[in-house]
Amino acid sequence: MSKFVIVYLSTSGNTKMMAEAIAEGARSRGLDADAISFYDVDVDTLKNADAVGLGCSTFWYKMHDAMERFLDKLSKEHLEGKVGVSFGSYGWSGEAPVQIATRMREMGMHVLDPVLRIMYTPNEKDLEECKRLGKDVAMELKKHKPSEMAVT
Ligand SMILES: Cc1cc2nc3c(=O)[nH]c(=O)nc-3n(C[C@H](O)[C@H](O)[C@H](O)COP(=O)(O)O)c2cc1C
Repeated sequence: MSKFVIVYLSTSGNTKMMAEAIAEGARSRGLDADAISFYDVDVDTLKNADAVGLGCSTFWYKMHDAMERFLDKLSKEHLEGKVGVSFGSYGWSGEAPVQIATRMREMGMHVLDPVLRIMYTPNEKDLEECKRLGKDVAMELKKHKPSEMAVT
């Protein structure tokens, strides 16, 4: 069974809402998907996943330092070829998701567009966009491992 792990670092819950909606969208297309707090995840969980989502809000024009250190650790592993998505809530400049997508691509991951940025708390329409991205991940994996997923 293909697995999609979506990791989020969120200070007030906005990026977390995005992560949960991405997971919901993926599950609605038959993919086994979990949104997990950055603080509860280890590198092995991501190594064992077929698709990886990484989300972080923007603070002081960049991703949080803890996410940067996590990416440093991930870049020592072999994650090339995995499907990826990057996302995050922001207030006015929104650099973090773009920086994360760049790092994921440097690791050889196949990062889907859009790199999803939502201003402050996601509204219903924003959450639909997040779900759409989750569905896109499911479709992408289905292209490669169609027999392992429920067809919906
Ligand atoms: C101290 C502080 C610094 C921030 N710096 C930025 C910034 O440089 N650029 C930006 O777009 N948003 C900035 N924001 C806004 C946050 O990214 C925004 O509130 C976001 O919704 C937080 O999402 P989260 O709850 O997932 O952490 C900042 C917020 C705080 C409290």
